[in-house]
Amino acid sequence: MTTIRPLVAGNWKINGLTAQLAELQALKDRLASEPALGADVLVCPPATLLAQARWALRGSMIALGAQDCHPLPSGAHTGDISAEMLADAGASSVIVGHSERRTDHGETDALVRAKAEAAHRAGLTAIICVGETEKERRDGETLEIVKRQLRGSVPEGARATDTVIAYEPVWAIGTGLTPTPEDVAEVHGFIRAELGQLLAPREADRMRILYGGSVKPANAKELLSVKDVNGALVGGASLKADDFYAIVSAYRGENAA
Ligand code: PGA
Repeated sequence: MTTIRPLVAGNWKINGLTAQLAELQALKDRLASEPALGADVLVCPPATLLAQARWALRGSMIALGAQDCHPLPSGAHTGDISAEMLADAGASSVIVGHSERRTDHGETDALVRAKAEAAHRAGLTAIICVGETEKERRDGETLEIVKRQLRGSVPEGARATDTVIAYEPVWAIGTGLTPTPEDVAEVHGFIRAELGQLLAPREADRMRILYGGSVKPANAKELLSVKDVNGALVGGASLKADDFYAIVSAYRGENAA
C-alpha cells in the first residue's frame, strides 16, 4: 500500500487583517517543537496578507497558499490575481473551485480546470475542491456530482506532486455538520477510483484527498483516520492557532517522513 504524507490546510477565506498574523506566529511557535509531525501544514490567508505571512513563516515548516487565481498569467482583468503573482508573493499552493467560488462567482468545472492548469504553469500545487450540496445528497446524487466535478476540473496529466483533491460537502461547510465516517469513506474511495480512471495509476494512488467541512479539534481524529482521507481543508477552525494546532496534532507521531 502506498503511504501518503497527509496535508492539513487552513483556508482563512475573507478573514484576517494584519493583526491575524499573530495567530500564524503562535502556530509557528507551537509547531517548532514538533519535529516528528506526520503531516504537512499549509495556511491560505487572504491575498493581502501573503507577503507578510511569507516573512512571518520564514524558517518554519508551514507552507503558504492562496485561495484562488485567475487562469491567465497577466492582462486586463481588474481585481484578479494570477497564479504567477501568487507564486511571486510566496505561495506554493492555491485552492481552486471552492464551493463558495463556484456559488458566488458561478465558476464552472471548465474554469476551475483552467485555474488548476494556471497553478501548474506557475509551479503551484492546485487544491481542487469538489462536493455536493445538501439537495444533491438528499437526492442520492453525491457520487454523480463528484464524478462530474472531477472529470471537469482535474487537468489531464495532473500529478500527485502538483495536485490535491479536497472533498467538501457544501452542506458541511461552516455549519458544524459533518458526514458520517462511513459516508466520508464512500466518497473518498470513489474519488480514488475515479482518479484511477483519469490519471496514471502512480499519480492516482498517491494523490492526496483531503476532507473539508466543519473539521474541528473534537472530530479531527475520527474524520482523519478514515481510509483514503489524506488530510483536511479547514476553514473556521484554522483561524485560531490553538484549534488548528489541535487538528494538526491528530497526526502527531504518525507517518513521519
Ligand atoms: P469550515 O470550512 O471548516 O469552516 O467548515 C471549510 C472550507 O470551506 O474549506
